[in-house]
Amino acid sequence: MKALVLAGGSGTRLRPITHTSAKQLVPVANKPVLFYGLEAIAAAGVREVGMVVGDTHEEIEAAVGDGSAFGLEVTYLRQQAPLGLAHAVLIAREYLGEEDFVMYLGDNFIVGGIEPLVRRFEDERPDAQIMLTRVPDPRQFGVAQLDAAGRVVGLEEKPEKPKSDLALVGVYLFSPAVHEAVAALKPSWRGELEITEAIQWLIDAGRPVASTVISGYWKDTGNVADMLEVNRLVLEDVEQRLDGDVDGASEIIGRVVVEAGAKVANSRIVGPVIIGAGAVVRDSYVGPFTSVAENCQLVDSEIEYSILLRRASILGVRRIEASLIGHDVEVTPAPNTPRAHRLVLGDHSKVQISS
Ligand code: DAU
Repeated sequence: MKALVLAGGSGTRLRPITHTSAKQLVPVANKPVLFYGLEAIAAAGVREVGMVVGDTHEEIEAAVGDGSAFGLEVTYLRQQAPLGLAHAVLIAREYLGEEDFVMYLGDNFIVGGIEPLVRRFEDERPDAQIMLTRVPDPRQFGVAQLDAAGRVVGLEEKPEKPKSDLALVGVYLFSPAVHEAVAALKPSWRGELEITEAIQWLIDAGRPVASTVISGYWKDTGNVADMLEVNRLVLEDVEQRLDGDVDGASEIIGRVVVEAGAKVANSRIVGPVIIGAGAVVRDSYVGPFTSVAENCQLVDSEIEYSILLRRASILGVRRIEASLIGHDVEVTPAPNTPRAHRLVLGDHSKVQISS
């Protein structure tokens, strides 16, 4: 079995992290969401990965390289424009050959990995196996309709009036039969070759399509609350590891990771927390479920249940909670008089100020 990982897309700026162009590189507990997918693929015993890339190919290639860091052999497949998930299958036709494959959307995060799903596919060997999860607002997903016996009878892409709350998760398993379905597709109303339509084609052709309902799923939607929540979930599993420099005046409580090259001085850190390489935390409090990325600076400040992206600095500010702070952002206190806020906020920023 091979894997097809979709890490393309248009490179439109992701809200609210406006400076990150490849959404598959959004960090969860200081690690790009895409890496969790690659680790899950390797853990399921798959070695050969075709990585579909678009405008942001340089960023993705710089992060993933040849895949050997994950125990994978990655071949990059350039997609000229994001013409749909089924279009990605179309351009990978030659790479995939006559092998079964798992298609993994690079901005999806599946708690617990994909090994059981891959084993089930190998045992039952349908032509397609999809994953479904219940979501509060299915309109931004592909939506499945099941019959009384739990068989998939219909799929719709981003319907205005969803027929169920079962959303398609971005991990699909296919036999080579899918290539015939993909070849028969025409672009949808949004101009894309839809994988949902390819699966519908298989259903209509009477081919076996299996489904599993899973829980523990997240996809990057630019929603801060969800992102903080998945960060919390991943941090729940970290073990204490203090590879960086922690001075005697600091107090470290619980599951805290201080990466090599990070410095913690005269601070109180209450885990689960991760502090990335090159970060400096001085005279500060860092509370549970906080990820501080590489080369951040946190001085004379308090922060909890938050995510700091690379090189963000917070100097003399208390207290920050439930916040997502982007790359290279600086947060400092305003002078006391006049009592005014001075803000330089990027496009689509959201701030809540107590005043
Ligand atoms: O995440 C699950 C959802 O993914 C499913 O419920 C939908 O049925 C499915 O169509 C898809 O919807 P999205 O609108 O969320 O897909 P998005 O455009 O965000 O693309 C998903 C990933 O695939 C993302 O990492 C970018 C990559 N991609 C996307 C397209 C359209 C490509 O590499 N090439 C493409 O042409």
